[in-house]
Amino acid sequence: MASDLLDRVRLGGGVPSHVAVIMDGNGRWARERGLPRHLGHREGMKSVREVVEGAVEAGIDILTLFAFSTENWKRPAREITALMGLLQLYARKERAELRRQGVQVHVLGDLDRVDDATRSAVLEIVEGTRGGNALRLNLMISYGGREELLRAARALADRVRAGELDPADIDDSVLEDSLFTRGLPSPDLLIRTSGEHRISNFMLWQLAYTELHISPVYWPAFDRDHLFEAILDYQRRERRFGRVSVGVEAS
Ligand code: IPE
Ligand code: IPE
Ligand code: MG
Repeated sequence: MASDLLDRVRLGGGVPSHVAVIMDGNGRWARERGLPRHLGHREGMKSVREVVEGAVEAGIDILTLFAFSTENWKRPAREITALMGLLQLYARKERAELRRQGVQVHVLGDLDRVDDATRSAVLEIVEGTRGGNALRLNLMISYGGREELLRAARALADRVRAGELDPADIDDSVLEDSLFTRGLPSPDLLIRTSGEHRISNFMLWQLAYTELHISPVYWPAFDRDHLFEAILDYQRRERRFGRVSVGVEAS
């Protein structure tokens, strides 16, 4: 079954180079089973493994996973502690396997807000996977799109004040160089799990022309076949970027 879908993905034409995922629905997955929320988060780690492996199999270059938002700091302390503990567990448990698979991990977000143990665990996985060239995996931790744009605005304003930058020279590429995602292309495909039709402050600048795929599946139940289905959906899209279809004359 999986290989059938993977074959179809490979035959289907362009595989998205950059796929971003809003991993949502851990709490509802747990509640439906009468389990505490943290067990939903724990189960969600398996889906991360699945999707990373599926991304390598499909030939995706960059996978960006929304793991913890700036707004998630408003959750109960107990849940935040559980999520940070899981990030540490993930970083320690998966490092060797990710390295073997050629996955290079990057962490993007406001790590100053993260506790020392979690920060050092995630920086270790970044260090320990350096040089992997099968897949770049961005873990978005303590990340928010508005916060990212505010930081960029402040950084650019500082450079203008210092006389290093003329406001007239601020264009797409100058602004993009001030984002956490500097140097990366925008996502081609965004997947949101658990059926919610919203962006929730994720990559506000970068998603301008990204194709959206909303999956009804809760994140802990999401596997590589679901990723392949999302890519097949993407391959049926026509990306126009505001232009008319290829071959259609403006009349
Ligand atoms: C996603 O699952 C994980 C994080 C946001 C950290 P949720 O915890 O948001 O699960 P639901 O949306 O309440 O089901
Ligand atoms: C988005 O999910 C954040 C992450 C997946 C890390 P949320 O569950 O926090 O978003 P809302 O509250 O449904 O918008
Ligand atoms: Mg949620």
